[in-house]
Amino acid sequence: MCGIVAVTGYKKALPILINGLEKLEYRGYDSSGIAIINSETNSITCNKAEGKLKNLISNLNDQNIPGTVGIGHTRWATHGKPELKNAHPHTDSAGTIAVVQNGIIENFQDLKNKLEKEGISFNSDTDTEVIPHLIERELNTLSKLNLENNGSTLLVAVRNVISDLEGSYALAVLWAEAPTSLVVARRQAPLIIGLGEGEFICASDTPAIANFTNIILPMEDEEIALLTPLGIEIYDSNNERQYRNPVSLKVSEQIMDKMNFKHYMLKEIYDQPGTAKNWLENYLIKNLENGQYQIKYPFDTKFLKSIERIEIIACGTSKHAAMVGSFLLEQFAGIPANVFYASEFRYSPPPLLPNTLTIGVTQSGETADTIAALDMEIKRRSSIDDKKFKPNLIAITNRKESSIGRQIPNIIDICAGIEVGVAATKTFFAQLLSFYGLAIKFAHIKCSRSSNEIDKLITELLKLPPIIEDLLEKHNKSSEKLAHDFFNIKDVIFLGRGINYPIALEGALKLKEISYIHAAGYPAGEMKHGPIALLDKKVPVISIASSGEVFDKVISNAQEAKARNSYLIGIAPEINGTEIFDYLMQIPSSNEWISPLLNIIPLQLLSYHIAAHRGLDVDQPRNLAKSVTVE
Ligand code: F6R
Repeated sequence: MCGIVAVTGYKKALPILINGLEKLEYRGYDSSGIAIINSETNSITCNKAEGKLKNLISNLNDQNIPGTVGIGHTRWATHGKPELKNAHPHTDSAGTIAVVQNGIIENFQDLKNKLEKEGISFNSDTDTEVIPHLIERELNTLSKLNLENNGSTLLVAVRNVISDLEGSYALAVLWAEAPTSLVVARRQAPLIIGLGEGEFICASDTPAIANFTNIILPMEDEEIALLTPLGIEIYDSNNERQYRNPVSLKVSEQIMDKMNFKHYMLKEIYDQPGTAKNWLENYLIKNLENGQYQIKYPFDTKFLKSIERIEIIACGTSKHAAMVGSFLLEQFAGIPANVFYASEFRYSPPPLLPNTLTIGVTQSGETADTIAALDMEIKRRSSIDDKKFKPNLIAITNRKESSIGRQIPNIIDICAGIEVGVAATKTFFAQLLSFYGLAIKFAHIKCSRSSNEIDKLITELLKLPPIIEDLLEKHNKSSEKLAHDFFNIKDVIFLGRGINYPIALEGALKLKEISYIHAAGYPAGEMKHGPIALLDKKVPVISIASSGEVFDKVISNAQEAKARNSYLIGIAPEINGTEIFDYLMQIPSSNEWISPLLNIIPLQLLSYHIAAHRGLDVDQPRNLAKSVTVE
């Protein structure tokens, strides 16, 4: 949610800020703004625009703001509508302090009331605007102690202010009186410092830094830092100076290239054969002695032996991957598994049971609900003095360096490469693969499947890359054509059963989030218990009918829809029974276990083409953001 970029050094700040904001726009695009310490006037020049970053760029209209220290922000609205007055940066009354913030200040109303009583007037409806006013008040108090007007004084003022803030935030502060300094701080929202030569950039995510340097220092929770061209000072919440080594950015975290695709989303759908290949090369390792493949995750998996049940915590698309995962873990590997919405788990966790593995799934590694739910689970388990209840944790993420990467020691990095399109596609696919890996591992450890059955599943996984390539080849044009006929529909129902029920949910989520068409996914057998009332000839039904255990049942459920005049689209192999479909998006016959990995491809393509046909901003759909760092 919201992207922050801040820079101090010797190069002109404006192009660095704009370049950083371009890379962060996926985090929010309701408005954007920059503030720079103008080196000619030693005052702060602020510029903001409503809507997409291109509006800010056209506002700036080649303006040449001199100055090498600045902050920038791209907003996803929480407090206050997406209007100009609510765009960041926000300033104090004199305009000498500027602040950008990502997060939510939960006690802002109390703070605002107090400031208003002191005579401060506010220009926005945001929670953030209290911060520059509080810093101003703090600096006034500090000036009475004869502290110099410099970065260290600003650091003290910001530290005092954040001790009064409740909620989660990442923020960056400029003060015209300390013209080379930047103060940045974070609590439960990401912030990374990039180390250049004699200059530093700080941002919410690595793409904003990658053009500048590949040496980074992720800030830890509750840290505050002073950045000047001469160096950085980082302090923890006890005001202890922190010293640690920087790390290098992975190449995959640096590349954001649309190549010849019209949208990142289409490119990322097309990345999936490569994603599969990469994942298989990383985690499916051939034992040279016996020629058999094994899953090798990069942590000691001995602790999995004692696991008796699994709880998986996730949101959105990651939750759908978790649902397929839980199906595999229970039905293939024989371990009881439950999936929870992270936002629900936080306030109604299940009673604690012993020998439980908790898995957090988040492509961004920053989703506030998921991080907080995991945090809560770690705390409540750690407080019990019985090792059967201790936290056993695994995280499945695309961002090893993210908050979840620091929170959980056992990381399955899905290695999907950076995903720019807000709608998750290749990261979903790679999360699925990671669950196949876990199910294989557990089936092996628990001896719940024969070596033959395990080998069969592994063989199917190994065949994936060319199959996915063929599916893309086959369905890109056909789904574009189908989109032409369906771009104006109002409602779509997605049906699936068993392992493909979560794929129906994911198909519906993809369609609604990028095309704004109402779509709902149901377990196919559940349709007759209510949703069937929605059906008529204007409501197409997309039915996932893979060969296997529930094929006949899904076909019968599709019949029920056909009898209500719905246009039927099948995601199915061309076998007896599928002639019922008005349109068949043909999938090669496969082992049912593997079918979600195939069925999702035409659904992604169809959603993409419908949204593109409607002329919508596929990569940055309205009201959404790639990384949801607020509760
Ligand atoms: C859907 C989508 C969202 C995310 C959800 C969780 O395309 O992108 O539903 O899946 O916000 O995000 P992560 O996986 O980053 O925790």
